[in-house]
Amino acid sequence: MSRIQLKTREQVRHMRRAGLVVADIHAALREAAVPGVTTRALDEVSAQVISSHGAKSNFLGYYGYPATVCISVNDTVVHGIPDDRVLEAGDIVSFDCGAYLEVEGRQWHGDAAFTMIIGGDGAGTERRRQLNAVTEESMWAALAALASARRLSAVGEAVEEVVAEHALRDGWEAGIIEDYTGHGIGTAMHQEPEILNYRARGISPRLRPGMVLAVEPMLVTGDIENVTLGDDWTVKTLDGGDAAHWEHTIALLEDGVSVLTAADSGVAGLASYGVTPVSLD
Ligand code: MF3
Ligand code: CO
Repeated sequence: MSRIQLKTREQVRHMRRAGLVVADIHAALREAAVPGVTTRALDEVSAQVISSHGAKSNFLGYYGYPATVCISVNDTVVHGIPDDRVLEAGDIVSFDCGAYLEVEGRQWHGDAAFTMIIGGDGAGTERRRQLNAVTEESMWAALAALASARRLSAVGEAVEEVVAEHALRDGWEAGIIEDYTGHGIGTAMHQEPEILNYRARGISPRLRPGMVLAVEPMLVTGDIENVTLGDDWTVKTLDGGDAAHWEHTIALLEDGVSVLTAADSGVAGLASYGVTPVSLD
């Protein structure tokens, strides 16, 4: 017996509409995230895009979470709460947000994250740029692996492989956060299965058409030990190392995969793996 919710193609189309809202939030955040802006102002940008689509935030109010986006700066790994902090050139910042649409009384969710360095190309230390690149690459490698893999463990294998290649290439090894994972997604933001970003013992769920998964590796420059602050949300590295986080929602279909939260369905990100995604648009 599996508790993994399988979606019909029509249901995946509803999720695609939610995914496009998330893609739009990301585009607006990327544009608005310049030196001098507060993270709270960026939450307002996100809230505005969500309401302009007639969608709703699945982050706002989630276990009391107070904003529509998590903004995690430098040594914050995940769940940074927007506040009066002013972003500076060179900061490495992850934005994690989602939205849902209601269809016939059911919610269909999208969830995705990206990381950028504030101040444009060339800003930030080389290590921050490498961290961001290896984290994004590990996500695309994992998404591409889902196009042909038999089991969900392909995600952790792909992330570990990219991290190992990067260590050889750039001379330092990124840490893979283990305390936070990806997840199934559908009529709720968080569903079965849990998606590990590292290799683990034990049997891993078999992949099936109709599964929709949020794949979200989090990598750090140093040790993976982390602490949650007194606000019960903000997660920081214990050693003060930097962190990056990338996430997309991907659907497994009879005829291939489709990255629901990517405006281009994943065409550009999957190309170098020889994977052409299904377009539902
Ligand atoms: N970012 C988490 C995820 O991607 C969810 C955030 S919980 C919230 O699964 F409360 F911050 F919304
Ligand atoms: Co997620």
